[in-house]
Amino acid sequence: MIQIKGIGHALPERVLTNQEIEQMVDTDDKWIVERTGIRERRIADANMATSDLAAQAAGMALKRAGILAEEVDLIIVATASPDMLIPATACLVQQKIGAFNAAAFDVGAGCTGFIYGLTVAEKFLLDPNFKNILVIGAETLSRITDYSDRNTCILFGDGAGAAVLGRGNSENGLLATYLGADGKGAEHLYMPGGGSARPASIQTVNEHLHYIKMNGNEIFRFATRITIEISKKVLELAGMTYKDVDFFIPHQSNLRIIKTAMKWMNMPEEKTLINVDQFGNMSSACLPVGLSIAEETGKIGAGDNILMAAFGAGLTYG
Ligand code: UT7
Repeated sequence: MIQIKGIGHALPERVLTNQEIEQMVDTDDKWIVERTGIRERRIADANMATSDLAAQAAGMALKRAGILAEEVDLIIVATASPDMLIPATACLVQQKIGAFNAAAFDVGAGCTGFIYGLTVAEKFLLDPNFKNILVIGAETLSRITDYSDRNTCILFGDGAGAAVLGRGNSENGLLATYLGADGKGAEHLYMPGGGSARPASIQTVNEHLHYIKMNGNEIFRFATRITIEISKKVLELAGMTYKDVDFFIPHQSNLRIIKTAMKWMNMPEEKTLINVDQFGNMSSACLPVGLSIAEETGKIGAGDNILMAAFGAGLTYG
């Protein structure tokens, strides 16, 4: 089966608290905690880009997997905040970790990026030419967050997580994956400026178009519905029910969304990864960071049935 051989994460040291955000926009800690569950998030230093966090996380995952960078055949970086539009952040990571035998490309699937990346890697591993694949979810969302917009600036944080995937002999591994997208919802979460539709200009800068725009209510409704739907679907594909799940790692965007899914699955807090309070929404980095920390703290181990669910810009889900 296709297995995760090692997992790692990287989080910037700088903490941005709700109290600091109170000084930037008209909001308060009580509102943010009640509506989102977020208390603080991490922010990368100005000299750190997404590829730096990704390379750090990848280094930890390779070490834990006992695999050298030269042994990596493919690097897939899932990100919504690449270092640049060209080239792919995966190529910058390849150079930074010295994985010179690896092919490299990015996956753009918003917050669902890590699950898309895992699924792509799973298919590549059907080809005997690929043995070790690094799947990384990495973000510096602080670079595309408008700290004058209270609807969005309270939510996002920076971080990266990485997994080394390979074939294994045992019974353990990826049991099922399920992906989907609904492009009709693309208008609810996007960054208008800097692409081919609205190339960068003085006007796009003045109009704050190089920042994430979000229709929070629409995403909230979609997220609560889709998290349950896709969890049901993937469990069905694996021949399981929610009762077989030992640990649940949901996308970390809002505690209320997580709690709705937990209620449906009858999932207690000790069997659910919740770190939205500490790190906010790190988009594609949420799941691999969660997985890495859950392993580090002994919450999960080999043989556990783990369910991961995410949704995001696109609108994507997996
Ligand atoms: O990774 C995927 C990405 N995104 C998500 O998963 C986000 C999903 N959506 C959400 O998490 C929630 O919709 C938000 C946290 C973004 C907003 O919470 P809400 O409960 O849906 O609030 P709302 O947008 O309905 O706004 C309620 C009120 C509004 O005031 P009025 O119009 O009723 O007077 C907002 O202007 O709260 C106001 N508001 C705020 N007040 C204080 C919005 N943001 C803030 C704020 N502080 N930061």
